[in-house]
Amino acid sequence: MAVTTQQLIQWKQQGRAIVALTGWDYAIAQLLDAAGVDLILVGDSLAVILGYETTLPITLDEMIHHAKAVRRAVKRALVVVDLPFLTYQESVSQAMQSAGRVLKETGAQAVKLEGGHPAMVETVARLVQAGIPVMGHVGLTPQSVHQLGLRQQGKSPEAGERILNEAIALEQAGVFSIVLEHIPAHLALQITQKLRIPTIGIGAGSDCDGQVLVTSDIIGLSEKQPPFAKVYTNLREHITQAVQKYAVEVRDRQFP
Ligand code: KIV
Ligand code: NA
Repeated sequence: MAVTTQQLIQWKQQGRAIVALTGWDYAIAQLLDAAGVDLILVGDSLAVILGYETTLPITLDEMIHHAKAVRRAVKRALVVVDLPFLTYQESVSQAMQSAGRVLKETGAQAVKLEGGHPAMVETVARLVQAGIPVMGHVGLTPQSVHQLGLRQQGKSPEAGERILNEAIALEQAGVFSIVLEHIPAHLALQITQKLRIPTIGIGAGSDCDGQVLVTSDIIGLSEKQPPFAKVYTNLREHITQAVQKYAVEVRDRQFP
């Protein structure tokens, strides 16, 4: 049965951990879906796969192009698409247009946007009122890299309380779930206990309702991984060996 936003909330109540990963094309999304991943995020970390240094340059058109490929592959998982930098921060109507394009053109079920300050909470509330499922994202928010860096967030009690309050405000605005990125485990636990909606952690300890990682990090395709990623297989090595073997065989006229 296809995963819904309501299902994720039920799984939190039942204590069933939610498995999420990023996906960026048909081939990878098909594998993730068939392997039983519950939520596939077309994250703007796609920017790094496309060779950008940060998530900032990726456009809404590029996100939509990839989200359509992911959607064509997925039968069961919930597909969530990041709204890229400056396609939703300007105004409610800009956010509505961007989120509307994603849902109408890709068939994805939800969008994710970063931040929990009052203007963003207002934007989220308006999207949700319009019938658009929204996922929140607080803690380290990579679209603010030039303000925050990529450091762990919420370390001091004041900073922790600010993130907790952002998460509460986003829940009140109607998000169906929220990503907690690179914050202390005790803070993620506190937020997870406080909220009715599921928390999906990345570098936020083991007490979140689910976990998400960037797929290219866990399969060893990224040039570098964040400290909290776990590398489950080294595809760079496997691919290099395969390609080198092929090159040798072609040069030696062993293949075909
Ligand atoms: O873009 C992304 O991959 C993300 C996850 C790390 C949560 O936002
Ligand atoms: Na992202």
